[in-house]
Amino acid sequence: MSDNSFPFNPEPWVRPNIRTLSPYHAARDDFHEGILLDANENSLGPAIPFNQPLHRYPDTRLYDLRKKWADFRGLKPEQVFVGVGSDEAIDLLMRVFCEPGRDEILITPPTYGMYKVAARINNVGVSESGLTKDFQLEAQSVLSRVTQRTKLIMLCSPNNPTGNVLSQKEIERILLDFKRIVVVDEAYIDFSSTGSLAVLMEKYPNLVLLQTLSKSFGLAAIRMGAALAHPKIIEWMLKIKAPYNVNQLTAAMAMLAFDNIERMQQNVRDILIEKERLAAALAEHPDVEMIYPSEANFLLVRFRKAEAWYQLLANRGVIVRYRGDQLHCEDTLRITVGTPGENNRLLEELMAGDPTDRPN
Ligand SMILES: Cc1ncc(COP(=O)(O)O)c(C=O)c1O
Repeated sequence: MSDNSFPFNPEPWVRPNIRTLSPYHAARDDFHEGILLDANENSLGPAIPFNQPLHRYPDTRLYDLRKKWADFRGLKPEQVFVGVGSDEAIDLLMRVFCEPGRDEILITPPTYGMYKVAARINNVGVSESGLTKDFQLEAQSVLSRVTQRTKLIMLCSPNNPTGNVLSQKEIERILLDFKRIVVVDEAYIDFSSTGSLAVLMEKYPNLVLLQTLSKSFGLAAIRMGAALAHPKIIEWMLKIKAPYNVNQLTAAMAMLAFDNIERMQQNVRDILIEKERLAAALAEHPDVEMIYPSEANFLLVRFRKAEAWYQLLANRGVIVRYRGDQLHCEDTLRITVGTPGENNRLLEELMAGDPTDRPN
Protein backbone atom coordinates (compact mmCIF):
# COMPACT_ATOMS: atom_id res chain seq x y z
CA MET A 1 0.00 0.00 0.00
CA SER A 2 2.90 2.38 0.56
CA ASP A 3 3.87 2.19 -3.12
CA ASN A 4 3.59 5.84 -4.17
CA SER A 5 4.60 5.28 -7.80
CA PHE A 6 0.99 5.60 -8.98
CA PRO A 7 -1.89 7.56 -7.44
CA PHE A 8 -4.20 5.81 -5.02
CA ASN A 9 -7.51 4.96 -6.62
CA PRO A 10 -10.08 2.99 -4.63
CA GLU A 11 -12.65 3.08 -7.43
CA PRO A 12 -12.25 -0.58 -8.46
CA TRP A 13 -13.10 -1.54 -4.86
CA VAL A 14 -16.40 0.35 -4.95
CA ARG A 15 -19.60 -1.66 -5.55
CA PRO A 16 -20.56 -1.44 -9.23
CA ASN A 17 -24.02 0.07 -8.59
CA ILE A 18 -22.44 2.81 -6.43
CA ARG A 19 -19.80 3.53 -9.08
CA THR A 20 -22.52 4.36 -11.61
CA LEU A 21 -24.86 6.15 -9.17
CA SER A 22 -25.92 9.73 -9.84
CA PRO A 23 -26.23 11.20 -6.34
CA TYR A 24 -29.28 13.20 -5.30
CA HIS A 25 -28.71 16.86 -6.04
CA ALA A 26 -29.97 18.85 -3.05
CA ALA A 27 -31.31 22.38 -3.41
CA ARG A 28 -28.95 23.68 -0.74
CA ASP A 29 -25.93 22.30 -2.65
CA ASP A 30 -26.30 25.30 -4.96
CA PHE A 31 -27.74 28.26 -3.03
CA HIS A 32 -27.81 29.35 0.63
CA GLU A 33 -28.77 32.97 0.14
CA GLY A 34 -31.30 35.05 -1.76
CA ILE A 35 -35.04 34.62 -1.95
CA LEU A 36 -35.06 30.89 -1.44
CA LEU A 37 -38.11 29.47 -3.16
CA ASP A 38 -36.44 26.29 -4.35
CA ALA A 39 -36.84 23.66 -1.59
CA ASN A 40 -40.47 23.80 -0.42
CA GLU A 41 -39.38 24.97 3.02
CA ASN A 42 -41.74 26.92 5.27
CA SER A 43 -41.08 30.60 4.64
CA LEU A 44 -42.86 31.68 7.87
CA GLY A 45 -40.33 29.90 10.08
CA PRO A 46 -40.49 27.09 12.63
CA ALA A 47 -43.74 26.46 14.52
CA ILE A 48 -42.16 26.45 17.97
CA PRO A 49 -42.19 29.15 20.67
CA PHE A 50 -38.52 30.00 20.13
CA ASN A 51 -37.18 32.30 17.50
CA GLN A 52 -34.64 30.00 15.87
CA PRO A 53 -33.72 29.98 12.17
CA LEU A 54 -34.51 26.31 11.69
CA HIS A 55 -36.78 26.43 8.67
CA ARG A 56 -34.08 26.02 6.00
CA TYR A 57 -32.45 22.72 5.09
CA PRO A 58 -28.94 22.58 6.54
CA ASP A 59 -25.60 22.72 4.79
CA THR A 60 -24.88 19.43 2.99
CA ARG A 61 -21.07 19.45 2.88
CA LEU A 62 -20.21 21.09 6.23
CA TYR A 63 -16.84 22.28 5.05
CA ASP A 64 -16.15 24.52 8.11
CA LEU A 65 -16.80 21.71 10.56
CA ARG A 66 -14.71 19.27 8.54
CA LYS A 67 -11.91 21.85 8.52
CA LYS A 68 -12.02 22.16 12.31
CA TRP A 69 -11.90 18.38 12.72
CA ALA A 70 -9.08 18.17 10.17
CA ASP A 71 -7.08 20.94 11.88
CA PHE A 72 -7.43 19.16 15.21
CA ARG A 73 -5.99 15.94 13.75
CA GLY A 74 -3.43 17.49 11.39
CA LEU A 75 -5.34 16.60 8.21
CA LYS A 76 -7.12 18.38 5.34
CA PRO A 77 -10.91 18.94 5.25
CA GLU A 78 -11.11 16.70 2.17
CA GLN A 79 -9.96 13.84 4.42
CA VAL A 80 -12.92 14.19 6.78
CA PHE A 81 -16.48 12.84 6.50
CA VAL A 82 -18.89 13.91 9.23
CA GLY A 83 -22.06 12.01 9.99
CA VAL A 84 -24.67 10.90 12.49
CA GLY A 85 -22.25 9.36 14.96
CA SER A 86 -19.45 7.09 13.82
CA ASP A 87 -22.16 4.45 13.46
CA GLU A 88 -23.25 6.21 10.24
CA ALA A 89 -19.71 6.01 8.88
CA ILE A 90 -19.55 2.26 9.69
CA ASP A 91 -22.77 1.71 7.75
CA LEU A 92 -21.71 3.86 4.77
CA LEU A 93 -18.32 2.12 4.46
CA MET A 94 -20.11 -1.20 4.16
CA ARG A 95 -22.52 0.21 1.61
CA VAL A 96 -19.73 1.67 -0.52
CA PHE A 97 -17.38 -1.32 -0.48
CA CYS A 98 -19.34 -4.53 0.25
CA GLU A 99 -21.66 -6.24 -2.22
CA PRO A 100 -24.65 -7.58 -0.24
CA GLY A 101 -25.02 -11.36 -0.31
CA ARG A 102 -21.46 -11.83 -1.51
CA ASP A 103 -18.79 -9.82 0.33
CA GLU A 104 -17.75 -9.87 3.94
CA ILE A 105 -16.01 -7.84 6.62
CA LEU A 106 -13.42 -9.22 9.01
CA ILE A 107 -13.66 -8.37 12.70
CA THR A 108 -11.41 -9.17 15.67
CA PRO A 109 -13.51 -10.19 18.70
CA PRO A 110 -13.96 -9.19 21.40
CA THR A 111 -14.89 -5.91 19.78
CA TYR A 112 -17.58 -3.27 19.34
CA GLY A 113 -20.88 -4.97 18.47
CA MET A 114 -22.08 -2.55 15.80
CA TYR A 115 -19.67 -3.82 13.12
CA LYS A 116 -21.45 -7.16 13.04
CA VAL A 117 -24.92 -5.62 13.32
CA ALA A 118 -24.26 -3.12 10.50
CA ALA A 119 -22.95 -5.97 8.34
CA ARG A 120 -26.04 -8.09 9.04
CA ILE A 121 -28.33 -5.16 8.22
CA ASN A 122 -26.54 -4.76 4.90
CA ASN A 123 -26.59 -8.55 4.23
CA VAL A 124 -22.80 -8.54 4.33
CA GLY A 125 -20.97 -11.57 5.78
CA VAL A 126 -18.79 -11.42 8.90
CA SER A 127 -15.65 -13.44 9.42
CA GLU A 128 -13.76 -13.37 12.69
CA SER A 129 -10.18 -13.57 13.84
CA GLY A 130 -10.05 -13.40 17.62
CA LEU A 131 -7.59 -11.25 19.54
CA THR A 132 -5.13 -13.15 21.73
CA LYS A 133 -6.02 -13.93 25.36
CA ASP A 134 -4.43 -10.66 26.43
CA PHE A 135 -6.46 -8.87 23.75
CA GLN A 136 -3.65 -8.21 21.31
CA LEU A 137 -3.77 -8.22 17.56
CA GLU A 138 -1.79 -10.79 15.58
CA ALA A 139 -1.51 -9.55 12.00
CA GLN A 140 -0.57 -12.99 10.73
CA SER A 141 -3.67 -14.67 12.06
CA VAL A 142 -5.93 -11.82 10.79
CA LEU A 143 -4.36 -11.97 7.32
CA SER A 144 -4.72 -15.74 7.19
CA ARG A 145 -8.51 -15.26 7.42
CA VAL A 146 -8.69 -12.90 4.44
CA THR A 147 -10.44 -14.27 1.35
CA GLN A 148 -11.44 -12.83 -2.04
CA ARG A 149 -14.68 -11.75 -0.40
CA THR A 150 -13.08 -9.76 2.45
CA LYS A 151 -13.54 -6.07 1.66
CA LEU A 152 -13.05 -4.34 5.02
CA ILE A 153 -11.03 -5.22 8.11
CA MET A 154 -12.52 -3.55 11.19
CA LEU A 155 -10.14 -2.88 14.10
CA CYS A 156 -10.85 -0.92 17.26
CA SER A 157 -8.12 0.85 19.25
CA PRO A 158 -8.47 1.51 22.15
CA ASN A 159 -10.68 -1.53 21.92
CA ASN A 160 -14.19 -1.78 23.26
CA PRO A 161 -14.86 -3.71 25.56
CA THR A 162 -11.26 -4.46 26.60
CA GLY A 163 -9.85 -0.91 26.82
CA ASN A 164 -6.37 -1.68 25.44
CA VAL A 165 -4.61 -0.13 22.47
CA LEU A 166 -3.78 -2.50 19.61
CA SER A 167 -0.14 -2.79 18.55
CA GLN A 168 0.68 -0.19 15.89
CA LYS A 169 3.24 -2.54 14.40
CA GLU A 170 0.60 -5.23 13.86
CA ILE A 171 -1.87 -2.69 12.46
CA GLU A 172 0.76 -1.50 9.98
CA ARG A 173 1.45 -5.08 8.90
CA ILE A 174 -2.22 -5.47 8.08
CA LEU A 175 -2.29 -2.12 6.25
CA LEU A 176 0.66 -3.21 4.13
CA ASP A 177 -0.55 -6.67 3.30
CA PHE A 178 -4.30 -6.27 2.89
CA LYS A 179 -4.97 -4.70 -0.49
CA ARG A 180 -8.26 -3.22 0.63
CA ILE A 181 -9.56 -0.97 3.36
CA VAL A 182 -8.52 -1.23 7.00
CA VAL A 183 -10.76 0.64 9.43
CA VAL A 184 -9.41 1.58 12.85
CA ASP A 185 -12.11 2.82 15.20
CA GLU A 186 -10.59 5.48 17.48
CA ALA A 187 -13.73 6.33 19.46
CA TYR A 188 -11.68 6.39 22.70
CA ILE A 189 -8.42 7.78 21.33
CA ASP A 190 -8.38 10.99 23.40
CA PHE A 191 -8.25 8.94 26.61
CA SER A 192 -5.25 7.02 25.39
CA SER A 193 -1.58 7.77 26.01
CA THR A 194 -0.85 6.91 22.35
CA GLY A 195 -1.86 9.42 19.69
CA SER A 196 -4.25 9.01 16.78
CA LEU A 197 -3.10 6.98 13.78
CA ALA A 198 -3.97 10.01 11.65
CA VAL A 199 -0.19 10.44 11.39
CA LEU A 200 -0.12 7.26 9.23
CA MET A 201 -2.66 8.49 6.73
CA GLU A 202 -0.07 9.76 4.27
CA LYS A 203 1.76 6.44 4.31
CA TYR A 204 -1.29 4.15 4.06
CA PRO A 205 -4.06 5.49 1.80
CA ASN A 206 -6.16 2.39 2.62
CA LEU A 207 -6.43 3.45 6.29
CA VAL A 208 -9.80 4.75 7.49
CA LEU A 209 -10.11 6.09 11.04
CA LEU A 210 -13.39 6.46 12.87
CA GLN A 211 -13.76 9.13 15.52
CA THR A 212 -16.66 10.53 17.49
CA LEU A 213 -17.74 13.42 19.69
CA SER A 214 -19.69 10.96 21.88
CA LYS A 215 -16.85 10.06 24.25
CA SER A 216 -14.03 12.50 25.09
CA PHE A 217 -16.12 15.52 24.00
CA GLY A 218 -19.14 14.33 26.03
CA LEU A 219 -21.61 14.97 23.20
CA ALA A 220 -23.26 11.58 22.68
CA ALA A 221 -26.69 13.23 22.45
CA ILE A 222 -25.92 15.34 19.39
CA ARG A 223 -24.86 12.29 17.29
CA MET A 224 -21.69 13.42 15.56
CA GLY A 225 -18.93 11.19 14.31
CA ALA A 226 -16.37 11.18 11.55
CA ALA A 227 -14.41 9.03 9.16
CA LEU A 228 -10.89 10.26 8.41
CA ALA A 229 -9.46 8.87 5.19
CA HIS A 230 -7.94 9.53 1.78
CA PRO A 231 -10.03 12.18 -0.06
CA LYS A 232 -10.99 9.60 -2.71
CA ILE A 233 -12.55 7.37 -0.06
CA ILE A 234 -14.32 10.36 1.52
CA GLU A 235 -15.75 11.34 -1.89
CA TRP A 236 -17.49 7.96 -2.19
CA MET A 237 -18.98 8.31 1.28
CA LEU A 238 -20.24 11.81 0.46
CA LYS A 239 -21.73 10.49 -2.75
CA ILE A 240 -24.05 8.01 -1.02
CA LYS A 241 -24.85 9.75 2.28
CA ALA A 242 -28.34 11.14 2.88
CA PRO A 243 -28.12 14.72 1.54
CA TYR A 244 -28.88 16.41 4.88
CA ASN A 245 -27.46 13.79 7.22
CA VAL A 246 -26.15 16.21 9.86
CA ASN A 247 -28.73 18.58 11.30
CA GLN A 248 -28.00 22.25 11.89
CA LEU A 249 -28.18 22.10 15.71
CA THR A 250 -25.70 19.24 15.82
CA ALA A 251 -23.33 21.00 13.44
CA ALA A 252 -23.43 24.16 15.60
CA MET A 253 -22.66 22.21 18.80
CA ALA A 254 -19.84 20.34 17.06
CA MET A 255 -18.28 23.64 15.95
CA LEU A 256 -18.44 24.81 19.59
CA ALA A 257 -16.72 21.61 20.70
CA PHE A 258 -13.72 22.29 18.48
CA ASP A 259 -13.61 25.92 19.69
CA ASN A 260 -13.26 24.62 23.27
CA ILE A 261 -10.83 21.75 22.97
CA GLU A 262 -9.15 22.59 26.28
CA ARG A 263 -12.45 21.76 28.04
CA MET A 264 -12.46 18.32 26.49
CA GLN A 265 -8.83 17.89 27.48
CA GLN A 266 -9.53 18.92 31.09
CA ASN A 267 -12.46 16.49 31.30
CA VAL A 268 -10.27 13.73 29.92
CA ARG A 269 -7.60 14.45 32.55
CA ASP A 270 -10.24 14.38 35.32
CA ILE A 271 -11.72 11.10 34.04
CA LEU A 272 -8.27 9.50 33.90
CA ILE A 273 -7.55 10.49 37.52
CA GLU A 274 -10.91 9.10 38.56
CA LYS A 275 -10.24 5.92 36.60
CA GLU A 276 -7.07 5.34 38.64
CA ARG A 277 -8.93 5.89 41.90
CA LEU A 278 -11.72 3.53 40.83
CA ALA A 279 -9.27 0.86 39.70
CA ALA A 280 -7.34 1.06 42.97
CA ALA A 281 -10.54 0.72 45.02
CA LEU A 282 -11.84 -2.17 42.89
CA ALA A 283 -8.52 -3.97 43.29
CA GLU A 284 -9.24 -4.22 47.05
CA HIS A 285 -12.51 -6.06 46.46
CA PRO A 286 -12.48 -9.76 47.40
CA ASP A 287 -14.45 -10.77 44.29
CA VAL A 288 -12.35 -8.79 41.81
CA GLU A 289 -9.96 -11.17 40.09
CA MET A 290 -8.52 -8.92 37.39
CA ILE A 291 -8.67 -5.32 36.23
CA TYR A 292 -7.51 -5.14 32.65
CA PRO A 293 -5.21 -2.24 31.67
CA SER A 294 -7.36 0.45 30.10
CA GLU A 295 -6.54 3.34 27.75
CA ALA A 296 -10.21 4.34 27.59
CA ASN A 297 -12.87 5.82 29.90
CA PHE A 298 -13.98 2.42 31.16
CA LEU A 299 -12.55 -0.62 32.92
CA LEU A 300 -13.01 -4.25 32.04
CA VAL A 301 -13.07 -6.11 35.35
CA ARG A 302 -13.17 -9.86 35.97
CA PHE A 303 -15.30 -10.76 38.97
CA ARG A 304 -16.09 -13.91 40.85
CA LYS A 305 -19.90 -14.25 40.45
CA ALA A 306 -19.94 -11.57 37.73
CA GLU A 307 -23.53 -12.23 36.73
CA ALA A 308 -24.78 -12.07 40.31
CA TRP A 309 -22.92 -8.80 40.81
CA TYR A 310 -24.35 -7.41 37.58
CA GLN A 311 -27.89 -8.27 38.71
CA LEU A 312 -27.42 -6.93 42.20
CA LEU A 313 -25.97 -3.65 40.96
CA ALA A 314 -28.79 -3.24 38.43
CA ASN A 315 -31.38 -3.89 41.14
CA ARG A 316 -29.74 -1.13 43.20
CA GLY A 317 -29.83 1.28 40.27
CA VAL A 318 -26.14 1.06 39.34
CA ILE A 319 -25.95 -0.09 35.74
CA VAL A 320 -22.79 -1.62 34.32
CA ARG A 321 -22.38 -3.85 31.25
CA TYR A 322 -22.02 -7.62 31.51
CA ARG A 323 -19.45 -8.70 28.90
CA GLY A 324 -18.96 -12.31 30.03
CA ASP A 325 -20.42 -13.61 26.76
CA GLN A 326 -17.59 -12.16 24.64
CA LEU A 327 -14.46 -14.03 23.56
CA HIS A 328 -11.84 -14.23 26.38
CA CYS A 329 -14.07 -12.01 28.56
CA GLU A 330 -15.57 -14.71 30.79
CA ASP A 331 -16.92 -13.29 34.09
CA THR A 332 -16.29 -9.68 33.18
CA LEU A 333 -18.18 -6.46 33.71
CA ARG A 334 -17.41 -3.32 31.74
CA ILE A 335 -17.62 -0.31 34.01
CA THR A 336 -17.70 3.24 32.63
CA VAL A 337 -15.84 5.73 34.81
CA GLY A 338 -18.55 7.91 36.32
CA THR A 339 -18.44 11.09 38.37
CA PRO A 340 -16.72 10.73 41.77
CA GLY A 341 -20.19 10.50 43.38
CA GLU A 342 -21.37 7.83 40.95
CA ASN A 343 -18.21 5.81 41.44
CA ASN A 344 -18.61 6.05 45.21
CA ARG A 345 -22.14 4.66 44.94
CA LEU A 346 -20.84 1.79 42.81
CA LEU A 347 -18.10 1.07 45.35
CA GLU A 348 -20.53 1.25 48.30
CA GLU A 349 -22.79 -1.32 46.67
CA LEU A 350 -19.84 -3.56 45.89
CA MET A 351 -18.43 -3.28 49.40
CA ALA A 352 -21.77 -3.96 51.12
CA GLY A 353 -21.36 -7.72 50.92
CA ASP A 354 -21.74 -10.86 48.84
CA PRO A 355 -24.39 -10.65 46.08
CA THR A 356 -25.56 -14.21 46.70
CA ASP A 357 -26.30 -13.46 50.38
CA ARG A 358 -28.10 -10.15 49.90
CA PRO A 359 -31.83 -9.73 49.25
CA ASN A 360 -32.60 -7.84 46.03
C1 LIG B 1 -15.69 1.53 19.60
C2 LIG B 1 -16.90 2.37 19.38
N1 LIG B 1 -17.10 2.92 18.19
C3 LIG B 1 -18.16 3.69 17.95
C4 LIG B 1 -19.09 3.93 18.93
C5 LIG B 1 -20.31 4.75 18.60
O1 LIG B 1 -19.98 6.03 18.39
P1 LIG B 1 -21.07 7.10 17.95
O2 LIG B 1 -21.79 7.53 19.18
O3 LIG B 1 -20.27 8.16 17.33
O4 LIG B 1 -21.99 6.42 16.95
C6 LIG B 1 -18.94 3.37 20.19
C7 LIG B 1 -19.95 3.60 21.24
O5 LIG B 1 -19.98 3.02 22.27
C8 LIG B 1 -17.80 2.58 20.42
O6 LIG B 1 -17.60 1.99 21.62
